[in-house]
Amino acid sequence: MSRLKILGIDEKKCIKCEDCILSCSPRLFQVIKNKKMEKKIIFDDRFHRCFRCGHCLTICPVDAILYEGSEPPELFNEAKHPEKILSFDDLMKLIRSRKSIRVFKEDPVPKEKIEAILEAMRYSPSASNRQNREYIVITDKEKIASLSNDVGSMMLKLGKLLKFKYLLAPFVTGVLRRRLLSPRTKYSLDMYVERTKKGDDLMLFKAPCVIILHAPQYSRMSAADAGIAITHGMFAALSLGLGTCWIGFAHEYLSRFKKARRKLGIPKRNDVFGVFIVGYPDLEFLGGAPRRPLKVQWME
Ligand SMILES: Cc1cc2nc3c(=O)[nH]c(=O)nc-3n(C[C@H](O)[C@H](O)[C@H](O)COP(=O)(O)O)c2cc1C
Repeated sequence: MSRLKILGIDEKKCIKCEDCILSCSPRLFQVIKNKKMEKKIIFDDRFHRCFRCGHCLTICPVDAILYEGSEPPELFNEAKHPEKILSFDDLMKLIRSRKSIRVFKEDPVPKEKIEAILEAMRYSPSASNRQNREYIVITDKEKIASLSNDVGSMMLKLGKLLKFKYLLAPFVTGVLRRRLLSPRTKYSLDMYVERTKKGDDLMLFKAPCVIILHAPQYSRMSAADAGIAITHGMFAALSLGLGTCWIGFAHEYLSRFKKARRKLGIPKRNDVFGVFIVGYPDLEFLGGAPRRPLKVQWME
């Protein structure tokens, strides 16, 4: 995988504005003076602390930062005032229009749109800018149906276990125990079996596209990184006329079963951190759904 590496500063181009110094969180740029007491900016990363955020590349007004191993930064005027790209009201409308979509048209999602979604995910932040996320995109109808079936089999196994709930209950505690004994669990499982028999897909909702995010389990931040990437992808999809839904069941299934990960070609070192479906919604919502009031502790 190519990685950005900052090599230094092109002295001929540098206008010594010092913006690179301010933009660099580990402070790897500094001002030095030569024998003639002339100011010079240098990049010194002897302890390899650069986390390749690329901020210096997008702040230098004269393209003086020397680098390798990466695409060039994308410079555009609006970046100076992102608030002018989209008003808060419009952003809130977009945020409130996003819904988990579980009813899709049969139309496939064009590959360019899937690529655009992945591109939005590529630009999401990650802890220490590790960007260690990998994706699997499934658009093959049979493969999606097979995955849905596999995920559903987890529910069926759970259903079988329920028959022994009174025997199992003494060995489990907390939420698991409550779920095991709750009539709601039995009802949901019965409903699942009944509707699946009728041809409904309650796992992946016959979506035409499934995106799986997997990554090395490098830190406690991996799940947060994945959540942000998927959120980026969901909003990108929304802006392209597509609907999405995070599928926790598929996520759970792929996280739990090594065999299932192997079937999808997910490397041994990787875990699954999120699964979402994409497609053209076959229903139109009229507005934003209500949410609970905020719980905030202000410390002013
Ligand atoms: C982490 C996560 C896991 C989810 N898993 C599922 C799932 O397995 N199946 C499903 O139908 N919806 C799933 N959802 C969708 C939630 O039910 C949905 O986001 C929530 O009800 C709020 O509705 P909204 O997304 O339309 O605003 C999941 C959402 C999240 C964030």
